[in-house]
Parts: sequence; C-alpha cells; structure tokens
Amino acid sequence: MAKLHINNLKRVSTIAPEIYGHFSEHLGRCIYEGIFVGENSEIPNVNGMRTDVVEALKEIRIPVLRWPGGCFADEYHWKDGIGPKEGRKKMINTHWGGVVEDNSFGTHEFFELCRQLGCKTYVNGNVGSGTVQEMSEWVEYITFNGISPMAELRKKNGQEEAWRIDYFGVGNENWGCGGNMRPSCYADLYRRYQTYVRNYDPAAPILKICGGANVDDYHWTRTVLDVTHDHTPPQFHGFMDGLSLHYYVHPEGWEIKGSATEFDEAVWYKTLAKALFMDELVTRHGHIMDEYDPEKRIGMIVDEWGAWYTCEPGTNPGFLYQQNTVRDALVAGITLNIFNKHSDRVKMACLAQMVNVLQAVLLTEGEKLVKTPTYHVFHQYRHHQGAALLESTLTGVSEIEAGEWKVPELTEAVSEDGDGILTVTINNLSASEEKTVELSFAEGAYQVAEATVVSGELHAHNTFEAPETVKEEAFTAHRSEAGRIKAVLPPASVTMLRLKK
Ligand code: AHR
Repeated sequence: MAKLHINNLKRVSTIAPEIYGHFSEHLGRCIYEGIFVGENSEIPNVNGMRTDVVEALKEIRIPVLRWPGGCFADEYHWKDGIGPKEGRKKMINTHWGGVVEDNSFGTHEFFELCRQLGCKTYVNGNVGSGTVQEMSEWVEYITFNGISPMAELRKKNGQEEAWRIDYFGVGNENWGCGGNMRPSCYADLYRRYQTYVRNYDPAAPILKICGGANVDDYHWTRTVLDVTHDHTPPQFHGFMDGLSLHYYVHPEGWEIKGSATEFDEAVWYKTLAKALFMDELVTRHGHIMDEYDPEKRIGMIVDEWGAWYTCEPGTNPGFLYQQNTVRDALVAGITLNIFNKHSDRVKMACLAQMVNVLQAVLLTEGEKLVKTPTYHVFHQYRHHQGAALLESTLTGVSEIEAGEWKVPELTEAVSEDGDGILTVTINNLSASEEKTVELSFAEGAYQVAEATVVSGELHAHNTFEAPETVKEEAFTAHRSEAGRIKAVLPPASVTMLRLKK
C-alpha cells in the first residue's frame, strides 16, 4: 500500500493562481468560432463572445489569459485589429492554415473577453517582425489614461478608460518562429524593447516576461540571463519579472507526434513519462535561474504546455485540432502537480490552448460544446489556486516499467486554503491496476468533505454525440480510520480530495 504523509505544519510556498492559466492564439478555431462568433451570430453571445464557452470557463476560474500568440504574436500588427470592423485589414494567416484573418477580434475584443471571464490579461508583443515603436504604442494605447496620440485613438475607438495589462510578453519563441535568433541577440533586443514597455500607472505595474527556452535548451536560459544580469535585483524587478519556458508532449516525437485517440499501453506510458519530464525541465532551468536570481523574484512562466498530437483526420493540419482522452487528463494532472510542487519558482503556466486547439479544455462544433477530460481536471484542481503548498511525501510507490519508459505509480500535490481545507490531487498512472493509498497527517485528523475522480478506459473521450463519456464524478472509495484516510484509486485516474478537520 502507498502512503502519503502530509506535513500540515509546513507550508512550502504559495501556489500562484496563474499556474492555472490559459493561452488563446489566432490559430485554427480557437479565437474564431471557439470563443468569438461576432455579435450577429445565431450562437448565443455577449458582445460576440460565446456565452456557453464563457460560462464553462468561469467554472474553472480562469486566472489569466495569454493572447494573441504564439507564433502569431510575432506577425501580429495590432493596429490592424482596431477601429470599425469593416475597415479592418483582411489578410492570410500564413502561419496557421493559410486562412483569412479578418482582424475582427483585436485588442478591444480581447479586453472584453477578459472582462467577461474576470481574468488577468497577458498580452504578447511582437519582437520578430515588429518595431520598438509599434510595441511601445500598443502599451500606450491600452494603458495610458492621459493625453497622448494613442490614448486619443483608443478613445476615438470607443474606449474611454485605459485597460490594465497584467503581463506583457516581449516576443515569443524568438529562437524559432519569433525571428530565429541566437540567445545573445534576443537578450539584447529584450533589453531594448522592454525599456519602452512603459508603466503609465505605477499602481498597476505591467509585469514583463522575457522569452525563454525551448524544452531543454539550458544554453538559452543561461545566455539570456548572462546578457541581462547586470540588472540584478532589485533593479531586475520591473526589468524582467518572468522568463518563459515552452514544452509540449509529443508521444512519437516532433515529426510523427502520434494519434490523440489510438495508442497502445506502451504509448500510454511513453506519453506520461514525457509529461513527467516537465519536472526535470523546471528543476534544471530553475537551478540556472537560482544562480542569477537566488531570491526568486523572476517567475518561471511556462506559457505553453500540453500534449500535441497528429491533428484529427480530415481537419486542416494548420488548425491543430485534436481530441482529448483520459490520457490527457493524466497529462494535465501530472503536469499541474509538478507546477504546484515548484510553485516557489513557477509563477504562471498557460495550457495550449484554450478552445479547439491542441490540449484544449473545450471543443466546439457549430453551436455544440464539449468539455474535455482536461477541462474536468482543471475543475478539480481549481482549489489549489492561491492556496499554500504543503510538504507531502509519498512512500511505498513502485515504478511501472514499459520498455525504455518508467513512470511512478502515483504523483500528488497537497495544498491548504485560507479556511484550513486541504486539497489533495493524486494521479494513478497505471493503465490497469487500482492502487490503495493511506493519508496521514503531522497534526490533527481530517475528514473527507468532498471527493471527485476523473477516470475511464484509456481512450475514452467526449464527442458532440456523447459529451459526457468522461466527466468528474463523485469519488466514494475512501474511509477514515484512526485519524488516517484510506483511498482506493482506480487505474488511469485523477482524484481530488477536499479534507476538513
Ligand atoms: O501553440 C502552438 C504553437 O506552438 C505556438 O504558436 C508556438 O509558440 C509554439 O511553437
């Protein structure tokens, strides 16, 4: 039997709510159709935003939303997306699917979406093909309340009050689609561009995010910090508040990727092992960051993560539309537990992407909407947002070996909220075996106040015809005994327990 000892006397760090963030790019049917249908659509909407999508997203408490890309960000010229819609430029989205981008969703629409969601805003600027002036004027347009050309333009376009940018990304993947730069070149550009991301409202400072590494490119992290580190803390604060990291799970590698719904048990474990690699990435990039920033003032911002499979047969390959199974529930559960455990350094993470693209939480088809298994995991884990990570230790857990891939049977994270309620999220990675776990506490005894599970046959997924095949269900296989709690976790499951004294 596995044992999970919870040291409820030791709070390790605060789990930033933004770890549960999302990403929406002008890619495929994420923004258009998935979120924004326009005011004249027959699909119920408020100011063009799908009501069903906004309502579903509010249930998982979206803390922050990143936009407009991704690779699209470094091709995006924000002035194309403001002003009367009929006058907005139509162009080809050369990066994603070669479809017409009519710019009907732009800056005003993004801030309206975030208003409806009640979330923080993360705007990603264009370094790859944009100028310093363009970036600087965008910030002025959005956030300046005084007299200036851009503030006047915003008012002319119907928005009197400035909005708030919570986070600003200075470029995206500048080692690749954002300009194919070498790290020292990007680091110098970062120094320059960020200078003009002005904080017009000192009471609401914009947190600046520097473009970080792809996967295990530790050289990028070190070089970027090396070139910028003369801005040592406390000056670093306000110069660089976050450094990003991107990592996608491709079961069969970048070229082949692999099907979202057809895989055998070996590929199940390979996928989960690749999801677990996030722990090594966060640890090793984190160690480099520690050398430059031992006080951990700069957040690690994993602003793109998730499983990336071969797109669904018959769909535009440039749209990255994929199904989402119980395997994705486990990828999400494992990854979010890793972020929780590293919440001393990881300050934000954005799942790629929110609707209809990659490991989406929602899929749409016309007026129909489906919540994916990943959605249900985000719903389970929402209790961790803003809670204190507690020290917790798992013992009695073996490794499951599948060819060259090894995964532990269980992964977990435990937090305590402001009311003293504990949230335990625990994943059983085994494809076929249930696992019993006994929870013990350093101090006091707890009762299960609420418990849910997301599980099922490995390939199970939700379709527009059967939208509830995989859902969050009540979990009852637990009992309390002498101050301890025993739970029997089904195979291939993500379980959430809320514990009260
Ligand atoms: O999320 C899809 C793409 O993946 C993003 O546009 C890019 O930043 C990354 O390579």
